Amino acid sequence: MNLAAGLAGRFASHFGRKPGGVVFAPGRVNLIGDHVDYCDGLVLPMPISLGTWVAWAPRSDRRIAALALDYGGAMVEFGLTETCGPRGDWSDYVRGMAVSCGEAGLPALGADLAIAGDLPRGAGLSSSASLCIASGRALAAAAGSEAPPARQLALAAQHTEHVYVGVRCGIMDQMAIAAGAPGSALLLDCRSLETRSIALPPDWVVLIVQSGVERGLVDGQYNARRRDCEAAAAALGYSSLRDCSMLDAASPTLPPQLARRARHVVGEITRVSEAAEALATADLPRLGAMMRASHASLRDDFEVSHPSVDRLVEDLNSLIGELGGARMTGGGFGGAVVAIVSSSRAPVVIADLRAAGWSGKVLVEPAV
Ligand code: GLA
Repeated sequence: MNLAAGLAGRFASHFGRKPGGVVFAPGRVNLIGDHVDYCDGLVLPMPISLGTWVAWAPRSDRRIAALALDYGGAMVEFGLTETCGPRGDWSDYVRGMAVSCGEAGLPALGADLAIAGDLPRGAGLSSSASLCIASGRALAAAAGSEAPPARQLALAAQHTEHVYVGVRCGIMDQMAIAAGAPGSALLLDCRSLETRSIALPPDWVVLIVQSGVERGLVDGQYNARRRDCEAAAAALGYSSLRDCSMLDAASPTLPPQLARRARHVVGEITRVSEAAEALATADLPRLGAMMRASHASLRDDFEVSHPSVDRLVEDLNSLIGELGGARMTGGGFGGAVVAIVSSSRAPVVIADLRAAGWSGKVLVEPAV
């Protein structure tokens, strides 16, 4: 919470008054279930200890001033009813949330905001959804309201990404961040938005290992994968791939690329159900097997991995063996890798990883 204390001080020196408070939204790591949320699938993400803090104070003029400490103290100021195209930077998320929250009937009046976070950028740990949810919470607090309901806030954050940023993301990140509990995975049905919280067994840890490859400009690729899934579902006569079976995915009428995409989505949704069961029953070998199969499918059928990420996942899986597993996590094309092992083996796995030449940062969650 040092960041929060420092942030309050920076707020005071910039705006000349103390903040009314500081809110937090975590990042998330996805344990399994990638590129299925926008197909109405099942996912199993978990909030992490890193995230975004926003110090806030109300204003009475229906304007928002936001200061981003992680971007050299960059500032934006805008009226709540002012329209303006995307600027292509962090401020699109704040502006988008102010408008989206208003449209969704969530409280958003004027506010001064100071923002800081400790999520690595380009790591696939949802720094943008974290910024959206933290901004929504800060706007509500500045309007004198209770924390907004998780589902509504998550939908406003997804709307922000779609309309004000131009990424047609699913709902996983926003729901994991808005509705998840620390130390527990959130089994989320992206069609009904029903959730089930599954605590990580006390003697397991999640390792998040930086691959050293920052996710590049991949929004175009992401949207293209989503279009493939929509085209595959339409060709099979379904509204989404959630309703598709393995038999459908193997239909000779589907062009090969769409068939591969469909096979990934159908297989991944089944793996998420199995993984959730494995987590609930503390069955580490079964969970590990699901994670390895998920990675192979994202690499070969969905084609969203990266050669360095593949090597890191392979090394981790051979160090971990049957008792756990590793896979890429999130949107792909670089970023972090997730692994699950018993807490007693984690230090050995990390030491062996270093000995194998991997120097990327390792986060251990839940953080102690
Ligand atoms: C990004 C998106 C999510 C999800 C993942 C892949 O994180 O924001 O909605 O699609 O990629 O699982």
